[in-house]
Amino acid sequence: MPSDVFSPETQVPAPSSTVPDTSYRNFVNPEWVRLLGLLGMDVHYRRCTGTELHTDDGRVILDFLSGYCVYNTGHNHPYIVDALIRELQASGPTMLQSHIAYTAGTLAERLTALTCPHLTKTFFCSSGSEGIEAVIKFARVFTGRNGIVYAKGAFHGLTCGALSLMGDDFWKEGFGPLLPETYEIPFGDLAALDAALRQHKIAAVILEPLQGEAGIVPPPPDYLASVQALCKKHGALFVLDEVQTGIGRTGTFVTANREGVNPDMIVLAKALSGGLVPVAAVLMTDAIYKSVYGSLKKSIIHTSTFSENALSMRVGLATLDVIEQEKLAPRADSMGAELRDQLTQRLSRFEMFSQVRGLGMLNGIVLQPPTSLRLRIPFQTFRTIHPGMFGQMLVMRLFQHHDILSQMCGNNFMVLKVAPPLVVTDAQLEQYLDAIESVMEVVHSSTSFWSDALNMAQRAARV
Ligand SMILES: Cc1ncc(COP(=O)(O)O)c(C=O)c1O
Repeated sequence: MPSDVFSPETQVPAPSSTVPDTSYRNFVNPEWVRLLGLLGMDVHYRRCTGTELHTDDGRVILDFLSGYCVYNTGHNHPYIVDALIRELQASGPTMLQSHIAYTAGTLAERLTALTCPHLTKTFFCSSGSEGIEAVIKFARVFTGRNGIVYAKGAFHGLTCGALSLMGDDFWKEGFGPLLPETYEIPFGDLAALDAALRQHKIAAVILEPLQGEAGIVPPPPDYLASVQALCKKHGALFVLDEVQTGIGRTGTFVTANREGVNPDMIVLAKALSGGLVPVAAVLMTDAIYKSVYGSLKKSIIHTSTFSENALSMRVGLATLDVIEQEKLAPRADSMGAELRDQLTQRLSRFEMFSQVRGLGMLNGIVLQPPTSLRLRIPFQTFRTIHPGMFGQMLVMRLFQHHDILSQMCGNNFMVLKVAPPLVVTDAQLEQYLDAIESVMEVVHSSTSFWSDALNMAQRAARV
């Protein structure tokens, strides 16, 4: 028998929804199971397409989180699925580690064309954090300096280097010591940045062009251009983390395009995967590439096993096809502007509504503590129990009563994310508007919202 014939007895495993719950609980992360149970969000998803998540018990939930901006092209886009099937059926080399991955070249060339023409080299990896780790190493080699500046509230990932640039202490506790010579500045504060650049030897300033987990904070006008100029003046690299904001999410392919800036490096991840196969990319200038890889001896000085693997490269190319063919970036731009208008119109009458902010389809509903005595007392009670409690009640209500999946920002519990796939329809946006208006109505007028919240607090205390 030829050695490359697969055994006909090989069984395809059962679809995930038929696997018993206890395995995950016992062998992976029981606390996560308990948390989702508490929030009533531990449903079984059977089929996910576009913006819709179909559950085993017949619910159709609308995804307004997009896996934290992974599903820009929607769930299981048929074009991307087909491209992956074809790649698998071709039985080509996937990660030999000793061949030239030509599809990586094609993907890198397209990314340069879509982002900034001067970013002519790309390092591929598998996650946003891994991209940030690469940026830290490359910036150190290129400048011969160690210092990194990041913004308060920033989220760049959870590996040790990326965690050293985390703008919220919750994530860092107990995991130190982290990288030395990292300096936090308030996002938008040019004087603070100038001072940091003067006082320390800074290799790179790493910013999200619109802060995501900090609470969907767009950059002040001309801020990024001024950061770029300051970096140039002080010999530091200007790096944009577009892991959440990239691939059309904010209304242009990357936010750098919208802001008219030319960073020295850009990190992309999340949505480049089409929501199907992990892939991340660090785009850099030729000069940075040369400083890191510029000799035969150093040609693989920074790499990783899954870098440039055929499925990731194929999924990246197919995702770009969909983004371009379906004009998803300009679609996000116009639909996002309309959505922000509608949200403002519908929610302004509520005491706890502060504002809607964002770019394209990365938006946040900013809530504020109530001023009336009737709401202030229960609100403060929940805040004392847990600062994130109130937000989770909103998320839970949207999910349980209106079939909307969403989440609060990771480093700002008073901002509700509104980030559906870029293929979301007008009717689905309308459904969301009705849902959030109705939930805000309940928060402001019904005692049941607050008593449910108290019940949940008590159950949480017991868990
Ligand atoms: C802006 C930003 N950068 C980096 C990361 C880390 O990406 P990953 O989870 O793929 O490591 C995230 C994750 O949410 C992010 O939002």
